[in-house]
Amino acid sequence: MTIEVVNHTDTPVTIRNFSKRRYVDPDIMAREWDGVWRKNWLLAGLVADVQKPGDFFVFDLGREQILVACTSDGTVQGFYNVCQHRGNLLVTTERGRAANFRCAYHAWTYDIDGNLDIVPYEERFADGVPCAERALRPVNTAVWGGFVFVNMSESPEPLEDFLGPVAGILDPYRFDRMVLVEDQTVHLDCNWKAVIDNFSELYHVDFLHPQHKRMVDCCNDTVHLFARGHTGLAVPGATVNPRFPVPEEPTDIQTAQLLSLDLDPADFRGRVLDVREAVQARKREIGAARGFDYSGFEDEQLSDVWQYNLFPNVVLSFTPEHCWVMRVRPHPTDPGRCEFDKLSLVMFADPDMASSSQEILGPGRHAVSASGFEPEGHQRPERDVFSYAAVIAGEKTMTDTIDQDVELLSGVQTGMTSSGFDTTWLNDDEMRIQHFHNELERLLGEID
Ligand code: FES
Ligand SMILES: [Fe+2]
Repeated sequence: MTIEVVNHTDTPVTIRNFSKRRYVDPDIMAREWDGVWRKNWLLAGLVADVQKPGDFFVFDLGREQILVACTSDGTVQGFYNVCQHRGNLLVTTERGRAANFRCAYHAWTYDIDGNLDIVPYEERFADGVPCAERALRPVNTAVWGGFVFVNMSESPEPLEDFLGPVAGILDPYRFDRMVLVEDQTVHLDCNWKAVIDNFSELYHVDFLHPQHKRMVDCCNDTVHLFARGHTGLAVPGATVNPRFPVPEEPTDIQTAQLLSLDLDPADFRGRVLDVREAVQARKREIGAARGFDYSGFEDEQLSDVWQYNLFPNVVLSFTPEHCWVMRVRPHPTDPGRCEFDKLSLVMFADPDMASSSQEILGPGRHAVSASGFEPEGHQRPERDVFSYAAVIAGEKTMTDTIDQDVELLSGVQTGMTSSGFDTTWLNDDEMRIQHFHNELERLLGEID
């Protein structure tokens, strides 16, 4: 049983630990605003939401709101969502299509390119209105993988440089071709970094997510550390956790995977550890006929679950057929609160390629029936926003695994505020946490 660590940076990463202050101290939160949130490329939303001129969505991040619009020439551009008359918030709906953006206060109206178009009673302004100067303030915007990124710094490095090798490694997954099937946001009573920490280690999985032993092998994973604080993880899927007794029969999850590929689970009695390779081979064999192009993937990628964290606040958890885009956004003022988004994307079969419209199930993920690249009549789901209390009460779910994490995280924050706790004590399996915090320190300067 080995956890392989591949360090793609020039510097060795060693466990150093750090104080709890960075989770509870408003001064550190204020430093993060300038050092982290205003300096890095941030995943604002989906390109799919801004396809046609006038399409827009609002990306809400702490004290700031960015209006992302598809402009008249079809490019995607972010603007600060604030009217340049007296600073009223401009767009108050989350998403939609607009002919223009009209401020509710005095009706200053901007076109979809951000130009100030209409100023009522313009003659009453003694010095006139310098419309060019009073256009919406743009925010640097770039696109990768079907995601819109924004960067609030003056002249940021290109997004490709920020993502570095991560972009190329993830490109074969074609997230841009995946379709949003669920859009959820949960309010959490914890610091945003507690969420990132949680998705940066597998140490907790045996204990908090006991169901995972039926679908993944958390003992033989590969960890990747990249420059700029990004990290990656590859976990063998379609298998079981060898830390526990290996069952005689394929588990329920493996059985579902085998059946979805027209393989007989009975053939794997006493051969549970062979299921992973069989799934890989079978997907290779029948993928194209089912409308899935696996040609860009290594065999392991056909069975395994990967999780890549994009600094600072995005966690992508995915297989060739699915991606969960998880993103945590800080509260405007309270270091003990944040919002956690989960967007579920699914790769549907390519009808031009498929000779049948059956669906292939990813390991341990929910099934969605597929009838085309984007199924006819598919509606973008509305965002469902709720409190973690609703998850604990069983009124909302983000899948068993995420629910277990969500239910736990307020307890971490409460513990952090106790005078009975000062510093973390990390093990080697928590290297990704250390790597993330090293980047935080590089950006903020010394924090203990
Ligand atoms: S603040 Fe927007 S028109 Fe006055
Ligand atoms: Fe977890």
